[in-house]
Amino acid sequence: MVKPKRIGILTSGGDCAGLNAVIRAAVYRAESTYGWEVVGIRQATHGLMLRPPEATPLNIEKVDPILTAGGTILGTTNKGDPFAFPMPDGTVRDRSEEIIEGYHILGLDALIGIGGDGSLAILRRLAVQGKLNLVGVPKTIDNDVGSTDLSIGFDTAVTIATEALDRLHFTAASHSRVMILEVMGRDAGHIALSAGIAGGADIILIPEIPYSLESICDKLDERHRQGKNYCLVIVAEAVRTEKGEPVMMTNMLGQSRFGGIGHYLADRICAASGAETRVTVLGHIQRGGTPSPIERLIGSAFGVAAVDLIADGKFDRMVTWRNRQVESVPIAEAIAHYKGVDPNGILVKTARSMGICLGD
Ligand code: F6P
Repeated sequence: MVKPKRIGILTSGGDCAGLNAVIRAAVYRAESTYGWEVVGIRQATHGLMLRPPEATPLNIEKVDPILTAGGTILGTTNKGDPFAFPMPDGTVRDRSEEIIEGYHILGLDALIGIGGDGSLAILRRLAVQGKLNLVGVPKTIDNDVGSTDLSIGFDTAVTIATEALDRLHFTAASHSRVMILEVMGRDAGHIALSAGIAGGADIILIPEIPYSLESICDKLDERHRQGKNYCLVIVAEAVRTEKGEPVMMTNMLGQSRFGGIGHYLADRICAASGAETRVTVLGHIQRGGTPSPIERLIGSAFGVAAVDLIADGKFDRMVTWRNRQVESVPIAEAIAHYKGVDPNGILVKTARSMGICLGD
């Protein structure tokens, strides 16, 4: 008798909406089409470092209800590079061989890794080193993974940011204020640009297009001349000061992350124009909650396609969404091409044509 295939699946990096749709579809396809077993690995590669590896068998009955659930039923982490893993005693250790061993202890024939460019790069390095059969699925609200139009999590984040603008609109108009919405996206301005257009922002600031305070104030003047007493601004977290300095928040442990550009701009706009400003930092709200229909759709298509790649023996590849089709590319190709906003692309052109100020 031919041994049934046993495949693992893990989610790595920051969570987002839509991850469970991928897991669910992969389990459906593996079990019902191919009769394979699926094992869900806990907390990204950390589950493979533990002994015994922390993993749970998945089947259709178990995953059927998770389509609408946010986050990931498997848990995830965006910390702890296994090639330089921070140990409790303060040292760092290469734990890659433990992960590779964990894959073999679980008796896996292949692994589906759902992650952003950083996670996919780490997973690929592990796969090359250990000769593991890896297939990648792109996920990140930042939508900056190369070779794919969409990554899991982006559509829901844009939906949430758009809804925030819709809500801010009325309070901005009621109080004649400049309302600034700070959104995530790391170094890419995709969330700000898409939500800004969809939510009717007057000013969209993204890291890919340098801005000046002067053009922001010109836009405020233009709106006043048009008899509009308020302004909606959406800014991506990695937008810098006018001098090009990043705006970061540092915690008690000295760890820095993006945060604060909204408040920085609020003060600068208030000082330069006298406008009353308020700031909303959307934060992790963008990552949580119910996945949008598009997310569920693409997540399901990705889950099925990832299992089919394994069935075809096509490893070291990542599934992609392009021109309403699921295709695949070598993982190396996807992670080699970081995808920021194209300043000459269709969405920037659309925003400019609608009279939206991009700060330049
Ligand atoms: O990469 C996804 C992302 O949500 C970024 O947009 C954001 O800068 C970062 O992760 C936040 O990470 P954390 O969950 O560690 O605060």
